[in-house]
Amino acid sequence: MIDRRALLAAVPAFALAACERSATAAPPAPTVRPLKTVAPFAVGVCAKTGQLNDPAWVELATMHFSQLTAEWEMKMERIVGDDGRLDFAASDRLAGFCEARGMRLFGHTLIWYAQAHPWFAALPADRFAAEYDRYIAEVVGRYRGRAVGWDVVNEPVSEDGSGYRDCLWSERLGGVDAYIRRAFDQAREADGEAVLFLNDYNLENNPTKGAAYLRLVERLLKAGAPITGLGTQSHLDIEIPEGRITAFMRDLAGFGLPIHVSELDASLKGGRLDTRSEARKLAQQKDRVVELAEAFMALPAAQRFAFTAWGLRDSDSWMRQRQDGAGDPDDRPLLFDDAGRPKPLLAEVVKVFGG
Ligand code: XIL
Repeated sequence: MIDRRALLAAVPAFALAACERSATAAPPAPTVRPLKTVAPFAVGVCAKTGQLNDPAWVELATMHFSQLTAEWEMKMERIVGDDGRLDFAASDRLAGFCEARGMRLFGHTLIWYAQAHPWFAALPADRFAAEYDRYIAEVVGRYRGRAVGWDVVNEPVSEDGSGYRDCLWSERLGGVDAYIRRAFDQAREADGEAVLFLNDYNLENNPTKGAAYLRLVERLLKAGAPITGLGTQSHLDIEIPEGRITAFMRDLAGFGLPIHVSELDASLKGGRLDTRSEARKLAQQKDRVVELAEAFMALPAAQRFAFTAWGLRDSDSWMRQRQDGAGDPDDRPLLFDDAGRPKPLLAEVVKVFGG
């Protein structure tokens, strides 16, 4: 008969404690090489100044990423005050953070249908164009030589791809092509070096919308618009069939311009009648993200501008806070989990990028 008391007395206390810890500790995160040391191009993540006060966020983001996109604080709604004055406190802090850490700063976004700022909307007709031009010139000019590129115009294509969004800018400046062309001309005049992007979403998910975006790019380039980069946000719908992402990236590459996967996330949220198992959803997420990474990796080096995740940890994802009903407080759309541990999805991306 084994004397349990004698046996326990023989096991050093620290070994028992270790057993207890290991029994309750989270599964070990996969060890993975920092993304930016593996990828042969810039890898980005979006950021808000509040995250710069979080040492864990700073350590993880600077370890894995070489470029920051302002998630919110370089947008009109943050920069333009009620009186029209421009407040650069937050955007300057992001720019300073990037400079202090040798990271690229990517400006997002100058003109967006979703930010028809009331100060602009209230302007009389004879001031509107001049103030539009001045805004772009002042913002881009302030970060000349510091921002590597800009989403000059964001989301010009209509939701279903049937056309192009009417918005304050198109209504007050003579139409869709006119406001877009004007914005690019002003941005180019303010910074002759920055890469100037036309950015949109659901381009892979919805071939009709992707085709509408490509037609718009072709039309604007033919007219002489100084578009020098093409941004696909890549908020992936993980239920799209295999091949759709690859096909769109191939068509996008046809313009020969630098391409920015600008806002990657891959939501696991399904519809009300979602019967997929967790395993099925994670497999779909992996398949689509890997397809995107492979399609980007297959681009000529000169066209691989950057591959940007729209959030660092799942807990940072806008998908968790969305107020439009499309959010899910438990969504896990990103490369690192809530605790900042690398997820298997990151290891898959690192493998594609050459790690
Ligand atoms: C989102 C941010 O992630 C949120 O924090 C903010 O409240 C709203 O905007 N496409 C874009 C981004 O181009 O600017 C949006 O970012 C997400 C969709």
